[in-house]
Amino acid sequence: MSNLAIETLSLGRSFGSNIAVGGVDIAVRKGEIYGFLGPNGAGKSTTVRMLCTLLRPTSGAAKVAGFDVIDTPEKVRLRIGVAMQEAALDDKQSGREILEFQGRLFGLDAKTRRERVEKAIHLADIGDSIDDWVRTYSGGMKRRLDLAASLVHDPQVLFLDEPTTGLDPISRVRVWEEVRRLNRENGVTVFLTTQYLEEADELADRVGIIDRGRIVEEGTPTELKRAVGSDLIVVELSGDIERAAEIARSLRDVSEVTAGSNGLAISTNDAAALISTVAVAFNQHGISANSLTIRTPSLDDVFLRATGHRLSTESVQ
Ligand SMILES: Nc1ncnc2c1ncn2[C@@H]1O[C@H](COP(=O)(O)OP(=O)(O)OP(=O)(O)O)[C@@H](O)[C@H]1O
Ligand SMILES: [Mg+2]
Repeated sequence: MSNLAIETLSLGRSFGSNIAVGGVDIAVRKGEIYGFLGPNGAGKSTTVRMLCTLLRPTSGAAKVAGFDVIDTPEKVRLRIGVAMQEAALDDKQSGREILEFQGRLFGLDAKTRRERVEKAIHLADIGDSIDDWVRTYSGGMKRRLDLAASLVHDPQVLFLDEPTTGLDPISRVRVWEEVRRLNRENGVTVFLTTQYLEEADELADRVGIIDRGRIVEEGTPTELKRAVGSDLIVVELSGDIERAAEIARSLRDVSEVTAGSNGLAISTNDAAALISTVAVAFNQHGISANSLTIRTPSLDDVFLRATGHRLSTESVQ
């Protein structure tokens, strides 16, 4: 038996001339939490939908829980749980009805169903509202219900498509804790997509960074960040960024310079020692920086290095 829960080979999907996913190779071990990190339109949901047998690939192949998604979709479906980005919940059912329906759909006997639904109700954590119509629920309640519903049949592999988008910080941390617990206690393999750097950093054993349908980096968060360098000097500037990058590259003790749309990221082993050298060099060449700051690399720096642009729009260069 393979020790892989998810395995893809050049898996791709086009919509007409638009290549949503351009042939990705992914190998997720059993028991792993794999984070699929990328911006809007990168191809995250399309990948998840192919792995969950909701969408047919136009190229390549994939196996989930040991079964081919194209040849044996029903075998895959029995073994996976899915909480999609847009929770598809029937407004005119109560939370409890949705959970029970899920149990029946997967053919659980009455006793098991009762136990699992009780557990799921506890997990959804929506109190007495569990008997109200779903249409009265907040976005956060719907997301938690959807997550709980995806677990009723005790899946081996859980797919979560942006599980915390739109949640407040407290609900977000609660989802993280639940994902960790399921993974640790039940050994569930988790494939989770996210646009949030902290989420990938916090939760994932390994991260694949996807941009424009391609995986541009993959590794543990620590490995990926270490590859950027031990320290970063972040320079915000509006002038000639390429020229500033050239000047920075010519300095001693600079390991790497990445130019982005509003400045530079300079990797070095000792930013505190280098920062004044950078400031003086820019000054001598008439380059005026808006700010120079020191920090340790984040996954956003990994993203910038791999793609030339930042993932988070709010972060400074
Ligand atoms: N059913 C579809 N028909 C046509 N194009 C599609 C369809 N689904 C996705 N696409 C296109 O495929 C590309 C990838 O979309 P996808 O939904 O996989 O991105 P994503 O990474 O999940 O983005 P987001 O973070 O916004 O959810 C986009 O260009 C999108 O417009
Ligand atoms: Mg999506």
